[in-house]
This record gives sequence, C-alpha cells and structure tokens, in this order.
Amino acid sequence: MITETIPQILYEKLLSARTVGVFTGAGMSAESNIPTFRGNEGLWKKFKPEELANFDAFMKNPELVWEWYSSRKKIIHGAKPNPGHFALAELEKLVDEVIIITQNIDNLHRRAGSSIVHELHGNIERNYCIKCGEHFTDDVILSNPLPPTCTKCGGLVRPDVVWFGEYLPQDEFSASENAARRSDVFFSLGTSGIVYPAASIPHIAKYAGAFIVEINPETTPLSEITDITILGKSGILLPEITKNLTSIKHKGL
Ligand code: APR
Repeated sequence: MITETIPQILYEKLLSARTVGVFTGAGMSAESNIPTFRGNEGLWKKFKPEELANFDAFMKNPELVWEWYSSRKKIIHGAKPNPGHFALAELEKLVDEVIIITQNIDNLHRRAGSSIVHELHGNIERNYCIKCGEHFTDDVILSNPLPPTCTKCGGLVRPDVVWFGEYLPQDEFSASENAARRSDVFFSLGTSGIVYPAASIPHIAKYAGAFIVEINPETTPLSEITDITILGKSGILLPEITKNLTSIKHKGL
C-alpha cells in the first residue's frame, strides 16, 4: 500500500510488536540539514558518491577526497538530531525493543538517545592511519593541512567509514541481520535502498515475516517489498506516529 497518511494498521502492528527494527539512510538526517548522497541537492561539486568514496580515488587524489570529508565533517559537527531521531528514541518507551541499523555515519541516533545502534558504514567522527592503524580524533585532523598524515609513521590518515568495494564491519552486519530476523515491525527510513549489502537488511526482515514500513517522500526499489510505503518526511511522520501510539496506549484503539 502506498499512502500519504499513516494507516491504523501500523498502530495495531506496533502495539503487538516485541521487536521493532529500524533501517535508516541519509534522508533521516536531511531535516538536520545534512545533504543526502543522491538527487541533485546531494551532489558535491558534481561528483557522484561512488567516485569519491573508494580507496582508489583516495590513493589517486587524497586531497580531493579529504576536501569532501572535511566539508561533511564540518556540516555534521554543526548538525543536531531532528524530531525524527528523537521520535525513534521515544519509541523505546512504547515497545519492548527498538534496534536501529543505520547507513549513516553522523552519530545522530545516539545523540538523540537511541540505545541500540548498529553502524553499517562506520562513523565519520573517527579516523585511522592506513599504514599502522593508529586512531586520530577530528580535532587533530581538521586543524592540520589536508590530507592528514600519521604522527607516528607518516602514513595517510583516512576517515573510519566504509567505502565502495570495502567490507562492512562483520560484527555490525551480523547483529543487523539478527535484528532484522527477529523484528515484528521493520521500518526503512530515508534510504534509496540501492547500496548493497546494507540494502539486503530490509529483505531479510521481509523474508523472516516482519511487517515492513517505508517512510520516504518518494518510492524506492524497497517499496516493492513493503506492506506500507508512507510518502513523506521522517522528521514529520515519526513524531506523529509516536504521539498517536502514546495516546492509543493510554486510551486503547
Ligand atoms: N525523510 C525521509 N526520506 C527522505 C527525506 C526526508 N526528510 N529527504 C530525502 N529522503 C530520501 C530520498 O528520497 C532518498 O530516497 O532519502 C533517500 C536518500 O538516499 P541516498 O542519498 O541514496 O542515501 P542512502 O540511501 O543513505 O545511501 C546509501 O550510499 O553513498 C553511500 O555510504 C553512502 O550510506 C550511504 C549509502
């Protein structure tokens, strides 16, 4: 079902759910003013993310790749969780278990108060040397000329994020698969659903029998497997869902 309003069945499913899985992408943070990756407003200097977020591009032109990450780091440092992030933290009070699985590297779910967060694509606030593995904080990185180099061995330092062609962190991916398998309701929020293997997680939830709900202003390839696709913004719809769920819990359906 594709709809612009929140159907009653969603509240019924949430009221009987034990585990709610939540898969998020860049659209979740759009209302925190962090640009998404795809679509016109997502493009940075006309580069596609695939052209910059890969190891070969980094080795060929570390200055350019760092320029992009430095601009994203600055935007993310200045950003705050939006009402959608806070609504997901609030949902923990209304159902037994809420597990966030995010492709975002911006740390905004934790900052909003969500307690279980699996990061599939790393975290932009961390950095490490590609030669010796030494970790560096952003204070050191952003106060030195780009590209940053390791103070111990002189190697190039990179952001601790997963690039195209790289493996996802195995422990985070396994935990996400497990969460998807045991979810009764599973949300896919603000993602184009085209970057694999992350995008396989909603499919795992579907085949395990979860009720799948998508929130996005547009349909995506994932819309084909959803029970409901609600067309709209996560920062508006999620607070509405938690507000209504709270009142239904108090008054009954
Ligand atoms: N609320 C909900 N969804 C939104 C909103 C909003 N306010 N604004 C935009 N969207 C949707 C867009 O319609 C789009 O479908 O968010 C989606 C963002 O898609 P992408 O930019 O492709 O981001 P994402 O799916 O997270 O990308 C996956 O690709 O570049 C890599 O590693 C990067 O984790 C990223 C991965």
